[in-house]
Amino acid sequence: MFIRKNIPLAIVVMVSLVLASCLTGHHDNDEAVTRANQMLARMTLEDKIGQMSQLDPGFFDGEEQLKQAVRDGRCGSLLNYWGVEKVNEIQRIAVTESRLGIPLIIGRDVIHGYRTIFPIPLGMAASWNPGIVKEAFRISSVEASSQGIKWTFAPMLDITWDPRWGRIAEGCGEDPVLASAMARAMVEGIQGDDLTDPTALAACAKHYVGYGFAEAGRDYNTTYISEPLLRDVVLKPFKAATDAGALSIMSAFNDLNGVPATGNEFTLKQILRDEWGFKGMVVSDWASVTEMVLHGYATDDKDAAVKAINAGVDMEMSSTSYFDNVKQLLEEKKITEAQIDDAVRNILTVKYRLGLFDNPYVNPEAQKKILDPAFLDHARKVARQSTVMLKNEGNALPMSENIGSVAVIGPLADAPRDQLGTWCFDGQGENSVTPLRAVRELLGERKVNYVAGLSYSRDKSPDQFNAAVAAARRSDAILFFGGEEWILSGEGQSRGEIDLPGSQSALIEALAATGKPLVVVIMAGRPLAIGDELQDADALLYAWHGGTMAGPALTDLIFGKESPSGKLPVTFVKGAGQIPFYHYRKNTGRPASEKTWTPIEKIPVNPTQNSLGYRSFHLDYGYTPLLPFGYGLSYTTFDYSDLKLSSQVMDASGSITVTARVTNSGNMDADEIVQLYIRDRVGSITRPVKELKGFRRLHIKIGETADVEFVINSADLAFFNGAVTLTEPGEFDVWIGPNSDEGLHSDFIIE
Ligand code: NOJ
Repeated sequence: MFIRKNIPLAIVVMVSLVLASCLTGHHDNDEAVTRANQMLARMTLEDKIGQMSQLDPGFFDGEEQLKQAVRDGRCGSLLNYWGVEKVNEIQRIAVTESRLGIPLIIGRDVIHGYRTIFPIPLGMAASWNPGIVKEAFRISSVEASSQGIKWTFAPMLDITWDPRWGRIAEGCGEDPVLASAMARAMVEGIQGDDLTDPTALAACAKHYVGYGFAEAGRDYNTTYISEPLLRDVVLKPFKAATDAGALSIMSAFNDLNGVPATGNEFTLKQILRDEWGFKGMVVSDWASVTEMVLHGYATDDKDAAVKAINAGVDMEMSSTSYFDNVKQLLEEKKITEAQIDDAVRNILTVKYRLGLFDNPYVNPEAQKKILDPAFLDHARKVARQSTVMLKNEGNALPMSENIGSVAVIGPLADAPRDQLGTWCFDGQGENSVTPLRAVRELLGERKVNYVAGLSYSRDKSPDQFNAAVAAARRSDAILFFGGEEWILSGEGQSRGEIDLPGSQSALIEALAATGKPLVVVIMAGRPLAIGDELQDADALLYAWHGGTMAGPALTDLIFGKESPSGKLPVTFVKGAGQIPFYHYRKNTGRPASEKTWTPIEKIPVNPTQNSLGYRSFHLDYGYTPLLPFGYGLSYTTFDYSDLKLSSQVMDASGSITVTARVTNSGNMDADEIVQLYIRDRVGSITRPVKELKGFRRLHIKIGETADVEFVINSADLAFFNGAVTLTEPGEFDVWIGPNSDEGLHSDFIIE
């Protein structure tokens, strides 16, 4: 029935090249470019070099020196400089006192909210809802722009397969299709519909590229990424971001296959500029130009500047190798004036696109929108949809609001700063509504027995254990809020072990021993190895760091105003030793199964021969992860049925439609995230055992059935085989299901 496929023939899909220039949405002849060229013609070399430099106020000896530098056209951008009066004053100097009146572009990290803080991006990805994520980023831009910020270093689009890496918190997880959907939503939210609108910010897709594959998950570490992995996984969300019109890209810190990302002509020139036709601006990461010296790729800062300029890094963040050396490098003919003009044109074009020349000032009225009740409501909604229920035994959840009393315990129950997560320069703990406060507001103080049990997540002291257990004993149920403090994830904050820190596990065990219904809520910046806690808890909600409104969002779920609906954007491992483990993995020549795995406990003492089956597993962890990618439970149940394909045979350049029915067979209206996976059984290079190809979040009422439809185009099945990107003929599996492990199955062939 099936044909085999060996040779890549019929359907060579040269994906990137053709459409690139139409998709990036920028045209050489547009007004912004024309105006940039006109300005360029008036600029001296000094003016140009100034534009290529982005500085932090910390670089200057006080405000006056900074102002003078702006007056002198010494820098084109400032980062970490914000506030209505400050920005309007510095812009006034740039526009009215500098030689050419070029406005500054003010950048800042607004990663998951400005003052209204949303869940960490990994949490937002768990919502699988690009619509609400786009709105969250729109709100962030409205708030940030009111303080003069016109450029955010977001979205962070590093795919990672390593939860030890602290920056897993900032990205969208492990999958290229999910991350690409989020990338589009984030860019659209940041930049809005009209770039000249005062609330539009320039987006900056980062960190280009490969940074999430830091060896051992140790931040800033070396990366080795094969070209198929780079093109089929790591680059995908960046392509989605540039297609969505992202105005800028940040070059990363890491060494990629021996060439630092900031000096990497292959990724920055060949792929980004030539193949994708990207016309925006490239900024380095903080001192990533001069760090090429430490990488051992440049002899000194001057050499680093040459390498970054040759790779097409237009603006240098925080270090000054361009400012200090470009003039001399031109004299020595190590770089050309045309390269400098290209860089400056890219920078000026972004400033023109944002309307900064026409409207450089901030309207003080705009800041009244900060922490608008509608923004907080949205933050609550996003936090709700980001939370993933991982266990609910005996319907421990939802709880009744009429419950006699609850014990609220745990180091994250009332930790206003920690629940905001990493990267919120401007979010403030005082605006957070904590779970403790939300439970008290809902049930009334009298019904809530609160004991932190541990003062912070790493606390090892058992001093409060007895009090915590006593509070549990005199309550009808226990709500434990634990996880990680914000400082344990994010930049430079990688961990070797990924268990719950401190004595939290022991406390959870002690609480479980009371026999009271135990609901564990984990608020963390990464997927933790929570096997023991899953066993001890009756119900477990994974809430990431949920932001300002994490508390009320969680009570909405715990007390059943809405069902949990998030699904995991990353595979959960059993322990750090199992890393990396991801759904996109290959099958190996020795895949393991229940039959072939021998747990370590079953190995006889002094065995005489190896009877373990010679399969791909760990003796201790086995061959499956703790929880698969895409997993998440609901208060209701969904039945999947009627998987149908429009045809069992797909034409070389055609498409097929895959449909299924999903019925809400439980007792609550709820959302289900329906996922489509495929497996390309044989390839000219080996293919993953599962590839996500589509998803939908559907709201389905009790007893109702939704029809879900996915169109798979042959181009969606293309992969890079080391030489070209192509779709190969042959056999494919297809699944529609609730996660990467389960689902209705069928197959088709491509002729
Ligand atoms: C370094 C980080 O890697 C990057 O993500 C951030 O945008 C810059 N610092 C600026 O703060």
